[in-house]
Amino acid sequence: MVSAPPPSSGGVIICEMLNILEGYPLKDLGFRSAQSVHYQIEAMRHAYVDRNSYLGDPDFVKNPLDRLLDKGYAEKIRAVIDPKKAGVSKDIKPGVAPHEGSNTTHYSITDQWGNAVSVTYTLNDWFGAKVTADKTGVLLNNEMDDFTSKIGVPNMYGLVQGEANAIAPGKRPLSSMSPTIVSKDGKPVFVVGTPGGSRIITAVLHTILNVVDYGMNVQEAVDAPRFHQQWLPDVTNVETFAISPDTRKILTDMGHNLGVPQPANHLAAIIVGAPSLGGKQVGANRFYGANDPRRNTGLAAGY
Ligand code: DON
Repeated sequence: MVSAPPPSSGGVIICEMLNILEGYPLKDLGFRSAQSVHYQIEAMRHAYVDRNSYLGDPDFVKNPLDRLLDKGYAEKIRAVIDPKKAGVSKDIKPGVAPHEGSNTTHYSITDQWGNAVSVTYTLNDWFGAKVTADKTGVLLNNEMDDFTSKIGVPNMYGLVQGEANAIAPGKRPLSSMSPTIVSKDGKPVFVVGTPGGSRIITAVLHTILNVVDYGMNVQEAVDAPRFHQQWLPDVTNVETFAISPDTRKILTDMGHNLGVPQPANHLAAIIVGAPSLGGKQVGANRFYGANDPRRNTGLAAGY
């Protein structure tokens, strides 16, 4: 397919729509059948939000052509197209390019000498205070929201906190950041951490339980769906597939209030020596990293 490049959007948007549509049996569905028209409309809707959001004169903007033309990207779009229901344009946002976290970031590192580092650093909300320190480009955080600004009033993460975390001169706000290193016989064996506000603590807990108690390998432990309870609000947020329908019923009968998933954490974890704790080493490999797929960014890499 050879077509018009930017500054026309034509070529790339045609190809993006074709990539989306090649996953549907258009011919079998029949020319202008309702189902095939539905898929075509939805492909158009999604491709145009990208057109209208990302593309412009390449002398001025970097057009993300590789990503918009990627077959994997088209597959993701197909996955959100409901085969039975028209999309609602105002609810559809342009696909966001994989990028570094824009609020809180975590990384886990180990080296050949047995050192381990687990770092979580936070701007708090998206782009923190949305202010950069003069002439540095360094974004300032808005950590003040981690304090109890008023007793009984939930903060951005819904945490209802008390006097102990009230604002006072020289005081630091109570954080949930939990960069963690698990050691055995004095040696680091497991490194883990994540962003995610109040859900950092339970996500790290889940991952430790998954590795230590349930014997999962590092990627399984990071991938496994989670649930989160933080006292108030009195609801346990449950990720999709975290519990089976009958478990859900038993828990509900027990009086649990189960809620919808919240924005995802982004775990970065390493197990030293084998894919699972105390497991068998594979070849000469020594470190097994897992990057949380939930935020569509990040990488587990070694060299
Ligand atoms: O220190 C804390 O607990 C919060 N400032 C962390 C914020 C955070 O993880 C935002 N990330 N999604």
